[in-house]
Amino acid sequence: MNVRKAVIPVAGKGTRFLPASKAIPKEMLTIVDRPTIQYIVEEVVASGIEEIVFVTSQGKSAIENHFDYDFELDTILRQKGKDALCEEINHISNLIDITTVRQKKPLGLGHAIWTTRNVIGDEPFLVLLGDDLVLSKVPCCQQMLTLHQELDAPIVAIQRVSPEETNQYGIVEGTQLREGVYQIDRMVEKPAPGTTDSDLAIIGRYLLTPEIFAMLEKTTPGHGGEIQLTDALLALAKQRPMYAYEFSGTRFDAGDKLGYLKAIVAYALRHPVVCKEFKKHIKEVCADF
Ligand code: UTP
Repeated sequence: MNVRKAVIPVAGKGTRFLPASKAIPKEMLTIVDRPTIQYIVEEVVASGIEEIVFVTSQGKSAIENHFDYDFELDTILRQKGKDALCEEINHISNLIDITTVRQKKPLGLGHAIWTTRNVIGDEPFLVLLGDDLVLSKVPCCQQMLTLHQELDAPIVAIQRVSPEETNQYGIVEGTQLREGVYQIDRMVEKPAPGTTDSDLAIIGRYLLTPEIFAMLEKTTPGHGGEIQLTDALLALAKQRPMYAYEFSGTRFDAGDKLGYLKAIVAYALRHPVVCKEFKKHIKEVCADF
């Protein structure tokens, strides 16, 4: 079955990014010239998806406004002869349908996804975390859609991490089928040091099937008192084959201060307008340290 919809949960409180994220959603913080969330929506659009479902919460209306048509701004820009800028701003909202679902309490990523069950219905769908950026030649979602056409099963995107970092991620233990593709045997959310030999960490891209909603319904609060998507995925993996995919590209956790700074540098070094001067500046700064 074709994948037509993508869920982007943005209802979290962003405590790792306080105080910046107190009044401004962390997903709206700027990377060069656009907010983090716009890069994620652009990845979805570039992968050929037709509809995005945002899971939002109180204080996140700036995200919805960013993708809405602003008649007043449109008029002002056109009066000033800034038609190209106007077209650029309207471009994304014209390309994709956006629906919003409200998560009333931040009960975890698993709960956020569960709130979309009536909008998603009985079809496979993508999930992209609103603060996880992937820089790649082929959009990460598109890579996953290609694999899904072959496997017709749920897929989680993974990257290798160092042993010191495994306790920050959902970790997959699996059987390698071929380079970059694993059948999942076990999954554990943020394992205590020394409790897993695997270095395969789940990142913020998932391709899920609607069976996940029944699993989430039964999932009790796990790590951090939240309803964990990883726990529901593990329950599902016991019932049917599920796969982990080592995507090609670089992932940045833009919900974390250091990850956000790394993302800014990576995107600025590839930006057509600022890259040259920025590279020069970085070299000068590094020479001084
Ligand atoms: P994170 O744990 O990275 O986000 O969740 P957070 O809770 O906003 O951030 P910190 O840890 O307090 O700094 C991953 C994704 O899941 C969403 C977040 O918005 C983020 O995109 N999320 C998390 C929800 O939508 N609802 C939740 O209850 C929790």
